[in-house]
Amino acid sequence: MLRRRVAILISGRGSNMVSLIEAARAPDCPAEIALVLSNRPDAAGLERAREAGIATCVIDHKAHPTREDFEQAVDATLASHGISFICLAGFMRVLTDWFVERWAGKMVNIHPSLLPLYRGTHTHRRALEDGVLLHGCTVHFVVPELDAGPIIAQAAVPVVPGDTEESLAARVIVQEHRLYPQALRMVCDGSARLENGRVVFARGWDASGALLSPG
Ligand code: GRF
Repeated sequence: MLRRRVAILISGRGSNMVSLIEAARAPDCPAEIALVLSNRPDAAGLERAREAGIATCVIDHKAHPTREDFEQAVDATLASHGISFICLAGFMRVLTDWFVERWAGKMVNIHPSLLPLYRGTHTHRRALEDGVLLHGCTVHFVVPELDAGPIIAQAAVPVVPGDTEESLAARVIVQEHRLYPQALRMVCDGSARLENGRVVFARGWDASGALLSPG
């Protein structure tokens, strides 16, 4: 089996990164996590990646005069590690159109909301303010517009009375850790692929169930 060499880009604690690294240990996983790259030298996820035996690299955006300059350095590093696919996992830099187009169809992100609801930041707070009873997370291909790319997979959780931003975030992140490895597997084995700006799925799935909230 040909395994795609994947880089995970992080800026913080890296809990999604850990879930991807663990899933990629399965012998039948079509992805190999070959590099973890952080734009922040103090990202806690770097140490977790090293402990897992994954190559790490810091490219500090503050050490680069422009966004383009920073991205050129990132791109060169990815090339030198033979990377063919990128997972953004809590990577807190907005990427330029140049970088996004260079990696079109080969870069995915996880976002903590049921897109297209709540693009951007503070997704849990905004969901609570709106009184929605379902919330969740989305894995999508990255396009130049922020959090607007074609959707590969989503997971929904209930919002319950008394929820705080923290309790809701904790419920969502559990599902992020399930969803992201599944989505990575789908894009790397070709069961979900980008065609004319839409995701095409190679298999059907059970559509009989529903998550009711209140259940
Ligand atoms: C996650 O909630 C993810 O959806 C968002 O940033 C957060 C990263 O958390 N893009 P972690 O670093 O993976 O723990």
